[in-house]
Amino acid sequence: MAFEIKTKSITEDTIYYSQALHNLHSQVLDMNSLRKTWQQQWVDIVREKLNLTHCTDSVHILMIGAGNGYKDCQIVDYIAQKNPSVHCEVVEPDSNQMKSFREKASKITALYPAISFEYHAKTYQEYRNALQFEVDARRAPSFHLITCSHTLHYIDNWPRALDEMFGLLKCNGLLAITQATANGTFGRVVDMYRKQVNDKLDPDHHLTSDAVFNHLKEIGAHLERCPRSFKVDVTDIFDESSEIGNMLLDFILQRKDVRSTVPRVVMDEMLRFMKNESEMYNRRSFCTEKEEDIILIKS
Ligand SMILES: C[S@@+](CC[C@H](N)C(=O)[O-])C[C@H]1O[C@@H](n2cnc3c(N)ncnc32)[C@H](O)[C@@H]1O
Repeated sequence: MAFEIKTKSITEDTIYYSQALHNLHSQVLDMNSLRKTWQQQWVDIVREKLNLTHCTDSVHILMIGAGNGYKDCQIVDYIAQKNPSVHCEVVEPDSNQMKSFREKASKITALYPAISFEYHAKTYQEYRNALQFEVDARRAPSFHLITCSHTLHYIDNWPRALDEMFGLLKCNGLLAITQATANGTFGRVVDMYRKQVNDKLDPDHHLTSDAVFNHLKEIGAHLERCPRSFKVDVTDIFDESSEIGNMLLDFILQRKDVRSTVPRVVMDEMLRFMKNESEMYNRRSFCTEKEEDIILIKS
């Protein structure tokens, strides 16, 4: 029998959300070198698959939930080296993230003055709604590249958003979506939670790469999956009094105050599971988390 509870979404408080995201990153094993590897892997994949040979005009890019731009600005930089004219639309509701993005972007425009950025300090839903009031030309397929990394689960009605992104892509255009997979430790903890707790929260922000892949497959586009995994230090989760541990739990379940709202019996089961899944390094417990890039090319 499921427990009935009502929790708050972690995204209701944007400051807390940013702290929790930062906290997760700080618990990832060897994050600095991993960031470089991931960034390079993602950039290499997009570089290899993006076909701009037929592009005679300006290259148009849409970056949804671009964060601080640590990945997206790399690819813009690469495209800028090959193409004289590039226009990028950046959709990012968090002002701090946008500020960091703009700092990176200004270094690109200093090197390549023909590169332009258009900033939308809003959610994707707000961006889309605003588009509908603009001239028809803007709604026609206009982008050579659309990126949406670890953001789709925050967008209301993600299947509709994916359909729209597909519609906004030009022929030969590339859509790059990154999502957590269901089979990492955190994905399985979420599954455990969902089976036992009937949480009235909507939206729930638990979207796996399989759901994205299956939805895009129905569109019939050419798809590729590029997985990766990494280790997260979860030691603090086992210490009830640890703020770092509580924040990490909140991020895993995408809820606020998980420790005090989730029934004890469910919490104990999730903790036991994570303990069993953990590997020890230097007397700290690490779980394996997985994510993948889903690359769609529009024919
Ligand atoms: C986990 S971060 C990912 C950032 C970056 N894309 C990356 O891969 O590192 C998710 C980003 O999505 C943004 N975001 C949250 N809700 C959004 C929405 N409804 N539409 C667009 N972006 C959103 C957040 O502000 C945050 O910067």
